Amino acid sequence: MGPVIAVDGPAASGKGTIARALAQHFGLPHLDTGALYRAVALAAARAQVATDDGPALGRLASGLDLSLLEDPDLRSADTAQRASCISACPEVRQALLAFQRDFAAQAGGAVLDGRDIGTVIAPDAELKLFVTAAPEVRARRRWLELGAAGGLAGLAAVAAEIRARDARDQDRAAAPLRMADDAILLDTTDLDKDMAVRRAIELAISRLGPAS
Ligand code: DC
Repeated sequence: MGPVIAVDGPAASGKGTIARALAQHFGLPHLDTGALYRAVALAAARAQVATDDGPALGRLASGLDLSLLEDPDLRSADTAQRASCISACPEVRQALLAFQRDFAAQAGGAVLDGRDIGTVIAPDAELKLFVTAAPEVRARRRWLELGAAGGLAGLAAVAAEIRARDARDQDRAAAPLRMADDAILLDTTDLDKDMAVRRAIELAISRLGPAS
């Protein structure tokens, strides 16, 4: 059995970049589980299903059209907020559970990033990282990714969106964002992308040994 690496953390913490880099370093397949919730959110928006209609959202998630993972709207701010809303529905989480657990159970190992990987999807993962950064630093990163759109007012809007998403993801009853007891905290507030990736790979090597 290859190792399972769980990477959790809030929006724009750098967890996706770190998960992709770890997958590449160790030659493991990678699943961005946030993309699954985003795809359900997009399907719901297009089918005009309300973000709190658990049974209808659960049906959409069970029959998820995986081509939505390639949709240009998957990464929009609107889809992100909607994903944060629909992910509070237990029916949605239940419908996406088996796919994620099967991905984590591949014989060769896997890297998954999300909010509940270390706590719910892969509680026995060989390595759990909880990646975070100060909210204002995360907001600034996301705003720069968007080409600094809207100037300082744009930055304030992104910061408000991130705060709203953090609150929703942490406060929901079903599998809230929280650090697993046995996770290693990686705070990227004062690290640039390369430094954060290097630190994550060092931590992984110290726990798992070098890539074989
Ligand atoms: O990682 P992301 O920003 O693409 O995630 C979008 C939303 O999906 C996030 O705000 C909460 C939800 N999500 C979740 O509830 N559980 C996961 N494992 C991954 C994402």
